[in-house]
Amino acid sequence: MERTLSLVKPDGVNRNLVGEVIRRFEKEGLKVLALKMLCLTKKQAEAFYAVHKGRPFFDELTAYMSSGPIVAMVLEGENAVARVREIMGATDPQEAAPGTIRADLGLNKGENTVHGSDSLENAAKEIAFFFSEHELKATER
Ligand code: RTP
Ligand code: MG
Repeated sequence: MERTLSLVKPDGVNRNLVGEVIRRFEKEGLKVLALKMLCLTKKQAEAFYAVHKGRPFFDELTAYMSSGPIVAMVLEGENAVARVREIMGATDPQEAAPGTIRADLGLNKGENTVHGSDSLENAAKEIAFFFSEHELKATER
């Protein structure tokens, strides 16, 4: 069993796609372990996407991710990290495989509706960024 972090980005929340994104993960057998809606400050978005610091799109990305509410969730399942990435599709909706979230719902490379951790190591860090031990314990059974 793996755990990973996914976000519904501001364009997804704005277009009432929170339920649709969660439905697609749940339909594939992933379990929602923790869930919250929040707004990131620019500084928090910069910390979350620190791996991209220095890239040309860093400022645009972090401005966008702090532009409105997002929904953060912890998903659990076998191979959860890779499976969530598969269900999301490629970064650019125009290059994403048909039937993926980004192909079906994404607007462009920036407003691509969802985020998913790209490795087990980053998943652990990203889960800890959004959720306390206590919040995760609440759903342990
Ligand atoms: P994410 O981290 O959001 O799940 O997306 P990803 O792994 O598929 O893509 P990543 O390379 O980590 O990039 C993070 C986010 O930055 C925006 N981006 N813009 N304009 C550009 O060339 C560009 N490249 C990346 C995207 O919103 C991407 O999701
Ligand atoms: Mg990424």
